[in-house]
This record gives sequence, structure tokens and C-alpha cells, in this order.
Amino acid sequence: MKVLVIGSGGREHALCHAFKKSTTVEELFCIPGNAGTASIAKNFDVDIKNFEKIKEFVKQHEVDLVVIGPEQPLVDGIVNFLNKNNIKVFGPNKEASQLEGSKIFTKELCKKYNIPTADFGIFEETESARKFLEQCNLPIVIKADGLASGKGVYICHNKNEAIESIKEIFNGKFGMAKKVLIEEFLEGEEMSFFIISDGETYYPFGTAQDHKRVLEGDKGKNTGGMGAYSPSRLENDNLNKKIIDKIINPTLKGLKDLNTKFEGFLYAGLMIVKNEPFLIEYNVRMGDPECQTIIPKLKNDFADVVYACVNKNLQSINLEWYKDKSLCVVLCSNGYPDKYKNNIEIKNLEKIKLKENEFIFHAGTQKVGDKIYSNGGRVLNLVIKSNNFKENRDKIINLINQINWGDGFYRKDIGYRVID
Ligand code: AMP
Ligand code: GLY
Repeated sequence: MKVLVIGSGGREHALCHAFKKSTTVEELFCIPGNAGTASIAKNFDVDIKNFEKIKEFVKQHEVDLVVIGPEQPLVDGIVNFLNKNNIKVFGPNKEASQLEGSKIFTKELCKKYNIPTADFGIFEETESARKFLEQCNLPIVIKADGLASGKGVYICHNKNEAIESIKEIFNGKFGMAKKVLIEEFLEGEEMSFFIISDGETYYPFGTAQDHKRVLEGDKGKNTGGMGAYSPSRLENDNLNKKIIDKIINPTLKGLKDLNTKFEGFLYAGLMIVKNEPFLIEYNVRMGDPECQTIIPKLKNDFADVVYACVNKNLQSINLEWYKDKSLCVVLCSNGYPDKYKNNIEIKNLEKIKLKENEFIFHAGTQKVGDKIYSNGGRVLNLVIKSNNFKENRDKIINLINQINWGDGFYRKDIGYRVID
């Protein structure tokens, strides 16, 4: 089978790595990819916004299966487009992708199907939002509708801050925003919960906790994710059942009532408050860096799982997992998530000798000649699995020291809740 992975982050390198191990994958392509995917797949520089060009590529290279990593093409309808052209593609369609593409779509679904989530109000202009704020407790959460790459969410500790953020959103800081969402602040611990679905059958696909904030102690600005560990320390059978009964099943029913269904990875971002799950947001893809953390724990041939999904035959698969604890630390460019420099050589990567259960997944890197350069805010993901989170983290820090990239930084405290 010939497989094409779309995307260029650590998630896509981890997906390519899993496909590369498969006995059924003869040829692997990645568009556009990074220096990591270049070492195991053939990278091609095609604009992922240009669906027609992707289709041409698929036809020309006789690709059997396309796998979409990031959210933007999903929200823009790449799955509908490729399906219409009889191309097998793994990922949700445009309608189901609204779960991530519009926070307001998801909130309204929650309301209709009684899915536990923070109380909220939706507003189309500042004045009515200001009035609503008068009766709210602090802190309060303000969100722009639509995709904002992990930005577009403000946690406000006073009403002036809240009004300023509403103005910023309506002034277009995160693109055209017709609506703003005001939410109750939920106090609890976050957990990422994943499922894989073929539209009929679905299975849980692991849990993780990521560290979104840039500074140690979960302080500072939000980022795409500075590291993660799996499983989440909150996971237990009782909570899993509540998540499935109160959140996942009603959501899938909601999509069914809209005459659509969910195929692909669905990622529920949850706040767990006293062993009760509340939905914070949905993502219609694997998380990044959760994917890099979880995928190495899968025992099955990943291509078999995905192929069964696109053939609506997931029920034929019995998912099996290693019981390992997996931890990922992200090495970032200095300055991230604000301004940072690109094109800085990362010299020592070739010298690193990884042992079994140790992985380096590239994110913002590119290969020029035989040298590797940085090409993004999040640059490398170092992942280790074993039966001990602390050992994993210590070994990762040792690897980062060996890489000794002067232009990068990372959080030394990833997994502190399960380690310290
Ligand atoms: P989102 O993009 O909706 O996932 O929000 C980004 C981050 O903001 C989340 O991962 C949470 O840490 C935080 N957050 C969002 N909504 C809430 C809420 N209602 N209560 C507490 N924290 C929240
Ligand atoms: N790790 C957060 C995300 O993938 O959105």
C-alpha cells in the first residue's frame, strides 16, 4: 500500500514512523513534511491548501491512502473533496470538523445534548457582552470562535481585561470574528481523551496530559504544547465510562442527527473536576505532542488500523497497547511562542544513538544538503517510554544535553504531577 501523510509537525513524523514500521506499507510520502519525515518518507513540497494539487499528486503516485494530520485542511473540507474523487482518506469531513472549527457549534451541541461543559454565553457585539459580564464571577474565559492555533482564548481576572479581550477579538486579532464566547472558568485538572472511529465503530485511543504553557509550573503564555505524558494520571475505568456516556456518545449522536458521522481521530480536551468530566473543546485530529507520546504505545500495525477505518471495518481490529508510561519533551526555538529565528543549524543530531523505546520526532526542522536546520517554534520532540515517568524524563534531558542546541529551550518539569 502507498500512504501519503499530510502535515509537517511532530505529529506527522510520529504518524510516518508508525506507517514505516508497517508490513503493508510499500511506499510512504509526506506533504510537506520536515527533516524527520525526509529520513523515512519521500517529502514533496505541495501547498496543502491546494486540494486540486493534492489530488493530482495522489493520482500521479497511485497513493492508496491519505492521512490528514492538522486541522485546517479538515475544517476546509479536504476529506469531502478527496472522497468525491474516490480517494481513500482518513479524517473527518467538513461537517464533523466543525467540532473544532467552531467553538460555538460545539457549545450549541453540548447544550442540545446535555453534554457537561462550562456555562456560556454567545455574543455578536461588545455591548451585550459587557452587560452579561456584570453578572459573571471571576475569573472568566473569553474565546474567539474559529481556529486560532491554540491562541484566541483569554482567561481574565477582572472585567476590564475581559472587555479589552472582547474588543481585540471583534477587531480581528484572530481573523474575522462575528461571535465571541464567554465561559465560566472551570477549576480542575485537564486531560486529553482520544478515540479512533470509522463512523460506526469507535475505540478509545489513549489519554494524555499536555503542558500548554510556555514556562515551568504551567505559567506564561499558551503554546501548541511543550510536552505531554501518557496515560493521564486521572484515567480510571469509572471516569472513562463517564466520558464515553456523557460526552463522546452524545456528541456522535448529535452528528448523526445532523446526517453526518465522525471518521478519524477525535480528541476531547477535558477539565476533570472531582472525577467529573467537562468538555473544554474538541479537536478533530490527534493532539500534538500527544500523538508523539501515545503512538509508540500502540502494539498493532498502525496501517492495518487506519486501513480498517477507511474501509468502515474497524470492528475487525482488536486494539492492543503496551502498558508503558510515555513522556515527551518539546525542544523549542528561543523566543517561542513569540518571535524566534529560523534556519539555525542543529548540529549534533546525527551523533545521537537512540536505544529501543527512545524516539526523536522532528517538528520545525528542514534538511538542506546533509545539514538539519530549525524551521519553526517547536523543533524536536523527544519521547521515551518505559515503566517509569521520572526515568523517561531524566533520559530525555540527557539526550537534550547531548544535542546541546544553544538556540533552543525546553521545560524541565514535564510530567511534574506524576513525578514530583
Ligand atoms: P481551548 O483552546 O478552548 O482548549 O483553551 C485553551 C486552554 O485554556 C485550555 O487548554 C484550558 O487550559 C484553558 N481553558 C479554556 N476554557 C476554559 C474554562 N472554561 N475553564 C478553565 N480553563 C479553560
Ligand atoms: N496539544 C494540543 C493540541 O494538539 O491542540
